[in-house]
Amino acid sequence: MRIICVDNYNQVSKKAANIVASQLILKPNSVLGLATGSTPLGMYKQLIKTYEDGHIDFEEVTTFNLDEYYGLNKNNEQSYYYYMYENFFKYINIDMNKVNIPNGMAKNIDDECLEYERKIRKAGGIDIQVLGIGRNGHIGFNEPDIKFEALTHMVNLDEQTIKDNSRFFDSIEDVPTKAISMGIKTIMHAKKIILLASGIEKSDAIYKAIYGKITPKLPASVLQLHPDVVFIVDKEAASKLD
Ligand code: F6R
Repeated sequence: MRIICVDNYNQVSKKAANIVASQLILKPNSVLGLATGSTPLGMYKQLIKTYEDGHIDFEEVTTFNLDEYYGLNKNNEQSYYYYMYENFFKYINIDMNKVNIPNGMAKNIDDECLEYERKIRKAGGIDIQVLGIGRNGHIGFNEPDIKFEALTHMVNLDEQTIKDNSRFFDSIEDVPTKAISMGIKTIMHAKKIILLASGIEKSDAIYKAIYGKITPKLPASVLQLHPDVVFIVDKEAASKLD
């Protein structure tokens, strides 16, 4: 595990974007695992800029998002599909046929999950997975006490996560209580992982993920077992590390 500690959110975003950009320069047909939430927004902005400056190209890139709310369709402004399109995809030359996000409206969730795993395998696996981290240590929507061996599956969102994510909704009642998420096993299969964290409210989860016991109670702690993982954290998120 490597830890890159920088001064602020802007630098977290730049470092992360540079790592993803290098991946694309070395392998233009990379398979990217992508995250939503507030943390990666700066990284997406940087990647758009790097693309506009002509340094990277997304034509051959395939993407798989970590998760999607259950019950929200693509056009819902709160869906992660909408988020990805509005914040990233519409600004770059990605082929939308190569964009994969779990379908929150799927009739048969088990089939949807199996199919998602099959598509990842068919694409050759994820070259680099971008992660954020929840205050409770979740990665994707793998909440505390999940099974490490889980593949893509339907999850019940934790009370804390619903509360944290209610900032994006009109009221807490509007936050979906379920989501489809890549499992810990899916995430651990990625060849390389970068986890981004910014702000004091992530410091406890970051400390436990890096130095704590490897336990499903703190899902991100499993990353200690991954052979190629980089934590990119700002001073506040890293404040409990020394
Ligand atoms: C989003 C995701 C979540 C977020 C986490 C942190 O696709 O999988 O694990 O990364 O909830 O969210 P923010 O960045 O909003 O603090």
